[in-house]
Amino acid sequence: MDYQFLLVTKEPAGFAVLQFNRPDVLNALNMRLMEELVDALEQLDRDDEVRCMILTGNEKAFAAGADIKEMADASAVDMLIRDQFARWDRIRKIKKPIIAAVSGFALGGGCELMMTCDIVIASESAKIGQPEINIGVMPGAGGTQRLTRAVGKVKAMEMVLTGKTISAQEGLQWGLVNKVVPVEYCLQEAKDLAREIASKPPVAVRLAKEAVLKSFDTTMEGGLEFERKNFYLLFASDDQKEGMEAFVQKRKPDWKGK
Ligand code: HXC
Repeated sequence: MDYQFLLVTKEPAGFAVLQFNRPDVLNALNMRLMEELVDALEQLDRDDEVRCMILTGNEKAFAAGADIKEMADASAVDMLIRDQFARWDRIRKIKKPIIAAVSGFALGGGCELMMTCDIVIASESAKIGQPEINIGVMPGAGGTQRLTRAVGKVKAMEMVLTGKTISAQEGLQWGLVNKVVPVEYCLQEAKDLAREIASKPPVAVRLAKEAVLKSFDTTMEGGLEFERKNFYLLFASDDQKEGMEAFVQKRKPDWKGK
């Protein structure tokens, strides 16, 4: 697939950067961009040279939401047939870690995409929110659910019902953001983190991500059981043997990804 609105760069350190490229419309997420994003993520998920992905925009915008112009005239049936949220379900199923490097606007679908990522590095300029209420709708790609789980009911209600935007610092305090850095360091910080994750044993990374995500849709008992099975499963990996042997021999492990 040729990408019109997405720039993909593979770095030798074992990660890839996916940059939204619709600067004229603050990286509004039209259907073509979302199709490209899902296509790229799924390919990279299968690529043994890549162990982590970074999603980013530009200094002005991570993404200012779904493309309003593309949706404005749609009927409910059009929306049903487009089924654009099926793509979002595919992003949720990506097995490798995804880091969001967020500068400027992360609004509506942009905020929802940020929350779908596993780790968020934000620059001081980030403006985060779910402003759909101001255009007569509501979050549709997980905003009411992921935001509520991340920040709690009352703050989620305030953001969703007023459309209020929060700063990167508020995002940090509220648990939406891992770290806030000056804008010029945002992507670099995400790359440093991606490099670190890429240096870890990939099977353990994969099963650990899967277990953390499981906590969103299971009971404590079910989640603990799931975690335990993944933990046991790792004892079938060469990397578990190598990691523990290296510890005992006081040397650096040499991961095989098996
Ligand atoms: C389409 C958009 C857009 C969007 C900005 N633009 N956001 N186009 N969809 N979501 C376009 C503008 O029309 C304009 O194009 C150009 O980008 C620059 O935007 P301005 O408004 O001139 O910039 P500024 O004054 O700096 O204001 C920035 C802004 C504002 C506060 C971010 O653009 C804004 O409120 N955007 C909409 C945010 C929003 O409501 N997002 C939620 C969308 S619904 P022209 O051609 O005029 O220069 C959603 C549902 C999610 O996300 C469902 C899941 C898919």
